[in-house]
Amino acid sequence: MIYLNNAATTWPKPEMVYQAVDKCFRELDSPMRNSSEGAEHGDLMNESRASIASFFGVIDPKRLILTPGCTYALNLAILGIDWKSGDVAIMSGLEHHAVSRPIRKLAIERSIRFEIAPYEPGHPIDLDFVEKILRRGRVRLVACTMASNVTGDIFPVKEVVDLAHRYNAFCLLDAAQAAGVLEVNVETLGADMVAFAGHKGLFGPPGLGGLYVAPGIDLRTLAEGGTGGDSGTHGLSHKVPSAYEVGTHNLPAIVGLAAGVRWIQETGLEKIRTHERKLVGQFLEGALEIPGVTVYGARDPNQRAGAVSITMEGMAPKELAAWLATEHQITTRAGYHCAPLSHETIGTLPGDGTIRFGFGYFNTVDEVSITLKQLAKAPRAVAV
Ligand SMILES: Cc1ncc(COP(=O)(O)O)c(C=O)c1O
Repeated sequence: MIYLNNAATTWPKPEMVYQAVDKCFRELDSPMRNSSEGAEHGDLMNESRASIASFFGVIDPKRLILTPGCTYALNLAILGIDWKSGDVAIMSGLEHHAVSRPIRKLAIERSIRFEIAPYEPGHPIDLDFVEKILRRGRVRLVACTMASNVTGDIFPVKEVVDLAHRYNAFCLLDAAQAAGVLEVNVETLGADMVAFAGHKGLFGPPGLGGLYVAPGIDLRTLAEGGTGGDSGTHGLSHKVPSAYEVGTHNLPAIVGLAAGVRWIQETGLEKIRTHERKLVGQFLEGALEIPGVTVYGARDPNQRAGAVSITMEGMAPKELAAWLATEHQITTRAGYHCAPLSHETIGTLPGDGTIRFGFGYFNTVDEVSITLKQLAKAPRAVAV
């Protein structure tokens, strides 16, 4: 099988991730077996949180809230702000459902307004537009993905953060597609909140993500429950991170994510980025030579992360993905990628969306060549 769905979840994982999860789960090397309360601050938990925090340049690991995925982290960030009716949120035109749905929910339920920044390939967010809306006032939040899960476009997030701060708005970055591929350092970026997924570029298990929340930002909780500590009181404490991590921690996944991060540090982020950029460049070049193929997003591989979306004249994305999978064991993802907003933005909705090729570190130049060769032979309904 040629696995080109790394934008959904990376596969395979580095061997040390499998081993870390297995050992933790098997030996229950966790606070769950500890007999005393407050044991959620066990060594393994603390060490893993500290490793993950340090990977993101987070100085105080307590500001890193571990969540059941990036979706939950983004919901916590967006719904956790103390919104007032009439406040405004700005988002890019390439946001995932995990950002756009909570913002739309706030618009319906809390009468906030939202604006979507225009997009152009190579200029994924119109900063003049963002500034125009910020200047009008009442903007509480600018939410922006660091790299699109549909087109792969990399966003100028430092500029977005600085702009938001000039007008006293919070800036939330969605690092789901960036973490483990591009440098994501919360201090350098200066972002107020950064959400990430554990199972994509960080090579951790699914069902785990996180949210960095800058000091001084006090979010509402999304869920209430036990934290393992402060068990004798009825009310929930507002301690970070425990107030936001209610219920039993998914320690095997947390330990697995820490192993994934360690593997990236040992391998070198630059090496990973260079390899993925090479594969993306090779694919772009080859795909653009196939008649009737449209490639979305920036042309320059330096402006892209690992996802590449295309459409092909004479064959719907879903048909093409099914043909690649059944005839050639090439796994991709077709449709709207949980991001109909992105597809509206690039013009593939209304329509059938795109077929997405998600390249990862474990893909090879040969795999890209085989994929391109098969793509060129796809049985289309029209002659091109
Ligand atoms: C850009 C982006 N944001 C958010 C998410 C949600 O991540 P998760 O499914 O891990 O919660 C994804 C996952 O596909 C994504 O690509």
